[in-house]
Amino acid sequence: MTAIDLTRSAEWAALKQHRKSLAKTRIGALFSEDADRFGRFSLRLEEFALDFSKNLVTAETMRLLRVLAAKAEVEAWRDRMFAGERINTTEDRAVFHVALRHQGREPMPVAGRDVMPEVRAVLGRMRDFATAVRDGHWVGATGQRIRTVINIGIGGSDLGPAMTVQALRPFCHPEIRFHFVSNVDGAHLEAALAHADPASTLFIVSSKTFTTQETLANAKAARDWLTARLSPSAVPKHFVAVSAAVAKAQEFGIAAENVFGFWDWVGGRYSMWSAIGLPIAVALGWDGFEKLLAGAHAMDRHFREAPLERNLPMTMGLIALWNIDFLDCDAYAVLPYAQDLARLPAYLQQLEMESNGKATRRDGKPVKCATGPVLFGEPGTNGQHAFYQLIHQGTQRVFCDFILAARDRSGHPELHRLLTANFLAQSQALMLGKSAAEAEAEMRKAGMKAKQARALAPHRAFAGDRPSNSILLGELDPYHLGKLLALYEHKTFVLGVLWGINSFDQWGVELGKQLANDILGGGGIARDGSTAGLKALYDAWRT
Ligand code: F6P
Repeated sequence: MTAIDLTRSAEWAALKQHRKSLAKTRIGALFSEDADRFGRFSLRLEEFALDFSKNLVTAETMRLLRVLAAKAEVEAWRDRMFAGERINTTEDRAVFHVALRHQGREPMPVAGRDVMPEVRAVLGRMRDFATAVRDGHWVGATGQRIRTVINIGIGGSDLGPAMTVQALRPFCHPEIRFHFVSNVDGAHLEAALAHADPASTLFIVSSKTFTTQETLANAKAARDWLTARLSPSAVPKHFVAVSAAVAKAQEFGIAAENVFGFWDWVGGRYSMWSAIGLPIAVALGWDGFEKLLAGAHAMDRHFREAPLERNLPMTMGLIALWNIDFLDCDAYAVLPYAQDLARLPAYLQQLEMESNGKATRRDGKPVKCATGPVLFGEPGTNGQHAFYQLIHQGTQRVFCDFILAARDRSGHPELHRLLTANFLAQSQALMLGKSAAEAEAEMRKAGMKAKQARALAPHRAFAGDRPSNSILLGELDPYHLGKLLALYEHKTFVLGVLWGINSFDQWGVELGKQLANDILGGGGIARDGSTAGLKALYDAWRT
């Protein structure tokens, strides 16, 4: 199977034509024409709903998008992923994170070999370890139980666990503090160590390759901190590792029995379901971690089995393609109305931008359309008082995902009512907007003089017609979070197939790493005047 350049297809041209036919259609008007628009343009999977009705789509748009998906053979590519085929062609690897949360008894083979026995063996070791840390059977070198867990990793070896432990805060062990150190800026490690007692601190060094500069440097600094305060012989009780390169973790000095492995078919940004999720398992306990896996598996099954027209990840991918390539949206905001999901945008930045921020197709030819947009976000309502101005009135077109959990665990129902009202109001405001005439009439009604109202009206008008999805979860718990994250994973995959790119490599991060090593070795500085100038200033100011 080769990638098709969809932009040259009749199906793409039909969508372009269709987009023109919608030039005068406003999203809000589509609701007036169809009393059941919400029912027709929303999908549910148990207590999980995707409402995509506030997009500029009609039944014909969705039909044409599905015809395009068929042309791109999205379902066949999905089946190849689930069959463990080596669809990550530039790295010659299978893409099989779905096996990590597989719940059935049937085999999940890669190259003819069922991976499930190994997956279950690692899960079993994770369960025993996490349980021992939580209940105090795992003790530090001086016999104290663990009170602080510091995960050292970056990118996929950090963002998933960091985001999840924060997202599921009410479900976490109440007497263990969790820190996630990723940045090679020493301030990050220092902040984690500031209140840590070495005798009760456990470090989890997470790195798929165990070659990542930042992680190894932080891990060495952490080991020095520990050995200076306890002794070198304390390391085995305070350091464990998670890696697909077990031998390298051992070389670092971590005993084989304290290394939790995973496999090359698990991509970094798809790895929190593997042993990379160890801090999550310690935080939530085994039941919680299993629920997270079960939620993701429920979305996997849905993605694999539901027909295109009822398939949530397929639909979300197609809507994103429509907004990016046919409605010219430049940016994509993910706006969780849940403070505990504060790290979700950062997690999704890696998932989507590292997967689909590419300009070369699978066949080596250039992509002929816009691919992954700039993704950003903040929890609502904070973002409303910062960057929403641009989303409502700016010249760039941004499409948004709003996310809310219906049941609240904060114990403040009155605050959740306000949060919900804002969640509902923002997507409505983006869609409906407010004309200058409406703004002027409103100001007049409030008693403003005619001249002033007329002058202010253009500033207080909203173009509206800005597209958004809304995602409603029953509750922000491990099961629903698992579903949410798997939804985004598969939606990212669908988009990659539509664009004809390989979503599973990340060559774009290599050049910077290479040049940093050059510069560390003393080379590279003179390559350009700016770099040389900055380094000279740095040297001068440093002394
Ligand atoms: O530099 C990018 C990257 O390779 C990510 O894809 C990955 O998640 C991260 O670095 C960390 O890599 P590792 O787990 O091998 O330390």
